[in-house]
Parts: sequence; C-alpha cells; structure tokens
Amino acid sequence: MVTITVNGVQHEVQAPGDTPLLYVLRNDLQLIGPQFGCGLAQCGACAVLVEGKEVRSCITSVSEVANQEITTLEGLPARWAKQKCLSAEEAKRTLHPVQQAWIEEQTPQCGFCQNGMMIKATELLESNPNPTIAQIKEAFTTSGPSPNLCRCGTYVAIIDAVRHAAAIMAKGR
Ligand code: FES
Ligand code: FES
Repeated sequence: MVTITVNGVQHEVQAPGDTPLLYVLRNDLQLIGPQFGCGLAQCGACAVLVEGKEVRSCITSVSEVANQEITTLEGLPARWAKQKCLSAEEAKRTLHPVQQAWIEEQTPQCGFCQNGMMIKATELLESNPNPTIAQIKEAFTTSGPSPNLCRCGTYVAIIDAVRHAAAIMAKGR
C-alpha cells in the first residue's frame, strides 16, 4: 500500500510500489486527464505536476511520489483558487487561467495531447508569468524529458493560448 496526495486529497492506494503513477491515477482514482500516449516519457500526454514540476506519470512509479504534492489537470482550478485565495463560491465557478485560455482560444483538435500541454503551460507560467514566444517554445521543446508532442499540429495555437493565459493571470482573475 502506498499513500499519495493528489489534488489536495490523501489516498491509500492498494498497488505495488513500482506501479506507474499514470495507472494509479486513471485506474484507481478515476482521474482521466492524464493520457497514455507513448508510455516512454517521449510525448508528454501523461504529464502531472509534482511539487510544481512537470513529471511524466507513465515512467514515474507511485512509490517515488509518496508524500509529495501531485496535481492533475482536474486539480488545476483548485490550485489556482488556493493561490489567489478565492472564496469557495468564486472557486466553484473559476477555471485555472490556462484551462480558460485553452477554451477561449479553441486550442485542441483531437485533444489527446492537451493534458500535457496545459500542465507544461502551468509549470511555465508559475515560474515565468510573462514568457516570450522563444521562452514558450523552449519550455515545450527542451525543458522536459522530451518535447511535448501534438500529432494534430496545434503548436501555434498553444503558443497563443499560453500568452492568453498569461494575460488572464496578470489580471488576477
Ligand atoms: S505517455 Fe508519458 S510521456 Fe508519453
Ligand atoms: S490535439 Fe490531437 S494530438 Fe494534439
């Protein structure tokens, strides 16, 4: 049994310690934001935040992240609400700016890769609230174990969405 904290909730998981975190999130906790793409840390579809850093959950064993703060796509609104000290009422109707921007820019095509794209964008904007286009490209191509891949080719839309999210965040909404 392994104890993990996901989106602020502690879970006792009945899984061997070497089980990939991705399997535990999807199969045990029904958190289906993270996707199984390559299974080899080569695409980013399975990304989550661990202590604020993007981690590929397909190659991360559940025991490696015991007692660390894990945030999935589903936990982004609460993460933002906590950072901005929103009231419970406000929090209920507020998405994370990255998610809001992704909707407003209509960024996804098939959507399969977009979990990882939004997690990477969140990691970037938490450390650099106003990135340049070059810094956005760098984050999505060289900061992780591999570039974040999109087979539909939404890369230009992703850059627009990150800049839009930065603008929303700057307003503190
Ligand atoms: S599924 Fe984990 S990086 Fe591709
Ligand atoms: S939107 Fe289809 S893989 Fe990226």
